[in-house]
Amino acid sequence: MKLCVALDLPSAKENLELATNIKDHDVWLKVGLRAYIRDGKEFLETLKSINPNFKIFLDLKLHDIPNTMADAAYEVAQCPIDMFNVHASAGKVAMQTVMNRIKDIPNRPILIAVTALTSFDNENFKAVYNEDIETKATQFAKDTFEAGLDGVVSSAFESLDIKNNTSKEFITLCPGIRPFGEDAGDQKRVADIALAKKELVDFIVVGRPIYKSANPTEVVENILKNI
Ligand code: C5P
Repeated sequence: MKLCVALDLPSAKENLELATNIKDHDVWLKVGLRAYIRDGKEFLETLKSINPNFKIFLDLKLHDIPNTMADAAYEVAQCPIDMFNVHASAGKVAMQTVMNRIKDIPNRPILIAVTALTSFDNENFKAVYNEDIETKATQFAKDTFEAGLDGVVSSAFESLDIKNNTSKEFITLCPGIRPFGEDAGDQKRVADIALAKKELVDFIVVGRPIYKSANPTEVVENILKNI
């Protein structure tokens, strides 16, 4: 299991400080919409200059018509990143179109799809998708697998079921992790490290429990010791 640290701080300076503090640890960094919209490709380059071995997950959750998604994905794949994502709810054709566009790029980034956002509870999820979260998340994961993508973003609670319905090698990346039972914030279905291990999660994504703590480096070290 790998730790992916969410760089969701309010400024590039604070994100770079966090990245610099943990640069000697074997971690992935997650750059999301806020940081990317504000700081762009140059920010990704700066992260790689802090430590060229940093792996970067660009979490833009692309969702549009297939051709527009594929065009955007091609541009994303030109950035110094190692993984990015789309929404599975954009549909199988969209995911196939994206994969076809990037598949021959040398050292192409890993491509995963979001199943159900971890901020959804069942009632609110059903209001949008008209199905229970677990049933639909598994269906989205199957679509993603059949479209030839590398894995999914899911809740830790669905990881094992997704692997059983696709393949053990199919990557699960799980946000909504509160490693040692910290405050859930807006996340509805939170899991700790023990559950993530049991569910064979490949990547845990942790944001607030790290960057809001008084000693982020210590939290990262504690997580790494336990995964
Ligand atoms: O602070 P916290 O640990 O809740 O951060 C989780 C991160 O994972 C945030 O950057 C959020 O945007 C992202 N994320 C998520 N749920 C998804 C996909 C991404 O929480 N399904």
